[in-house]
Amino acid sequence: MRWNAMSAEEVNERINQAIEANNNYGQGDILGPPGTYLDREEFRPDAPFLDTAPFLKTLINNPNHIGCHTLGKESSPIFKGTQEIERELIELCAEEIFQADRKSIDGYVASGGTEANIEAMWIYRNYFSQEYNAKDDQIGVLFSEDTHYSITKACNLLRIKPFMLGVDQNERNILLSSLNDALARAKNEGIKYFIVIINLSTTMFGSVDEIEPIVEVMEKNQLTYKLHLDAAFGGFIYPFSNPNSNHHFGNPKVSSISIDGHKMLQTPYGTGMFLIRKGFMKYVSNEQAQYVPGLDYTLCGSRSGANAVVMWMVLMRYGSKGMKQKITELLNRTDYCCKALEEMGISYFRNPYINIIAIKAEQIPAEIAHKYELVADSYERPARWFKIVVMDHVDYKTLDKFLNEVRIERYQTN
Ligand SMILES: Cc1ncc(COP(=O)(O)O)c(C=O)c1O
Repeated sequence: MRWNAMSAEEVNERINQAIEANNNYGQGDILGPPGTYLDREEFRPDAPFLDTAPFLKTLINNPNHIGCHTLGKESSPIFKGTQEIERELIELCAEEIFQADRKSIDGYVASGGTEANIEAMWIYRNYFSQEYNAKDDQIGVLFSEDTHYSITKACNLLRIKPFMLGVDQNERNILLSSLNDALARAKNEGIKYFIVIINLSTTMFGSVDEIEPIVEVMEKNQLTYKLHLDAAFGGFIYPFSNPNSNHHFGNPKVSSISIDGHKMLQTPYGTGMFLIRKGFMKYVSNEQAQYVPGLDYTLCGSRSGANAVVMWMVLMRYGSKGMKQKITELLNRTDYCCKALEEMGISYFRNPYINIIAIKAEQIPAEIAHKYELVADSYERPARWFKIVVMDHVDYKTLDKFLNEVRIERYQTN
């Protein structure tokens, strides 16, 4: 993995060129699209700070990136400058971060991890239907009990059957006995095709599902399946922290990946990403989208080009080295917090390559967990786990403050 960082000036210049290459609502003869620049009173296009704020400048220019721009089809020429940046971004994430071969991946900037996960499952449902004549009720989805709820949301929307797999309660890895039970149940229920969801990492624990043991079982049973990586959380961490990862497109078993910028990349909400091997987007092509040049293949339809620009911007400002440094720093802070918890005899789960610490709820006073806004595994029943996510704002000072309060509380109650 390697790409060079750019200076703020270089990034600004490149984005200005992209905006220039777009047709500008304020200057071009544009009569057709039901879109324009943003309201000029609320969003002043002449605000002087915009010269050095390329994301806001793009937002105010308001390019619509409707459709998918990696397919080699003619997309709307009105926004060709910023679409080009989106293509570069998709290539960067697919090829540099997720080890894909050159030009082997399609994708787009989605509203978030939820949309990217639904898009993947929508594509595979239609793939099984078109290529194998599968009925919806012959398609099953395999995923661990720690999986994000967007997967069951997708099962519900797509009318395909969820099969939740149990995990070891301490290690959080998928139990192969549970996988075998689910496959036996699926067989009884007439399921012939599978979508396998692998977490890079789970939301609550930061646990990472191993690919090989699952694939081995699927192949031993000669099952037809497609494998999707939900890297909404870990996609901008794990590839930088674990050089031995096989959670990437270099692994031929991986067909598609969801990543979220609005988690570890610190980009604004609306910056998810969907990546898939070429040849699959066509299963969600919508021939009714005739007014969209290049047609539409996405779940969301209209979407802001500024979201692609801001993801590209942040990745280019860091460069691969800067990203690694940033992730190492967060993991160091996570290690520090884990060590302090251990010294107090507090049990927790943590994957060493991820910046999430899930602490057993009974081991930490609920008032302190609430005071520091630790996230509970459930707000509907008594919490069993509280998690800390060591983001940029979770610095040593804040960690120390929290750890000291826990220490004092434990001292007083013992
Ligand atoms: C693993 C995982 N997948 C999917 C999502 C959904 O992401 P979003 O809220 O961006 O739709 C999340 C969000 O926390 C997540 O952690």
